[in-house]
Amino acid sequence: RQATLADVYKQYRAPSNPLTVITAHDFISGAIADSTPNVDMILIGDSLSMTAKGYRSTLEIPFDEYIYACRSVMRGVNNKFVMADMPFGSFESSDSKCIESAVKLMRIGKIGSLKIEGGVEMVDRIRKLCQLGIPVTGHLGLQPQKFNSYGGYKVQGKTADSAVKIYQDALALQDAGCSFIVLECVPHKVAKFITEHLDIPTIGIGSGCGTTGQVLVFSDLLGMMDVKTGRFVKQYMNFHSQAVKALNKYGEEVKLKSFPEDGKHGFVIADNEYDAFL
Ligand code: KIV
Ligand code: NA
Repeated sequence: RQATLADVYKQYRAPSNPLTVITAHDFISGAIADSTPNVDMILIGDSLSMTAKGYRSTLEIPFDEYIYACRSVMRGVNNKFVMADMPFGSFESSDSKCIESAVKLMRIGKIGSLKIEGGVEMVDRIRKLCQLGIPVTGHLGLQPQKFNSYGGYKVQGKTADSAVKIYQDALALQDAGCSFIVLECVPHKVAKFITEHLDIPTIGIGSGCGTTGQVLVFSDLLGMMDVKTGRFVKQYMNFHSQAVKALNKYGEEVKLKSFPEDGKHGFVIADNEYDAFL
């Protein structure tokens, strides 16, 4: 059966057992993440706007296109707990718009929590979702949907005032009923302090090892795109260059007529059948 919120909570409460989260952006990445023993949770991040759809930022993806992507991911998932982003434009304008969008996402089925970027300004809306029985994950620190106002993708909480603001936001999100809080690009001491002063688990990205869990973007971790990633990314594989190398080898073998090999990659017809055919 698929892991529930209670399963995940049981696991992180075991001492020194960090939660491992990986994003998924389509059916294949969902299926791979779902079959990885050391991955505890899957996040359908709106980073799929860039990684799966080729948009320049998460602001550009239409809601319907995001929904289709979520459905693709979920067809690949049977076991893990899944959280999904509420994308830009789907929740900001009113409580009812937010609830409508949340209902559409939850109707996909098997999604266990919705993640919303924002602090105190989102607290009332998030409380309503929690009261409706939709577990919410908060997202503080660098909030990619707000990159225009930051002037780029920048570390947040480097000054005492901004660190206090993130801490206060975290307390408010916890009070509103959030099940998790993602802390993105927050100095590691600040992320550790916040984690130690909350009752709910934090999931860090670019925020050091003092958070309850870690999340990385699937395509970053595997080096699937030929782009420079943030310094907080550890690339465990260079999929892009290995894939180009493999495809190139295939192209070369086709040109040399060394692929396909008749006996090995094809099908035979019995001689008598072939004679009759002729
Ligand atoms: O969209 C995403 O992938 C995310 C994670 C990086 C936290 O929000
Ligand atoms: Na996101």
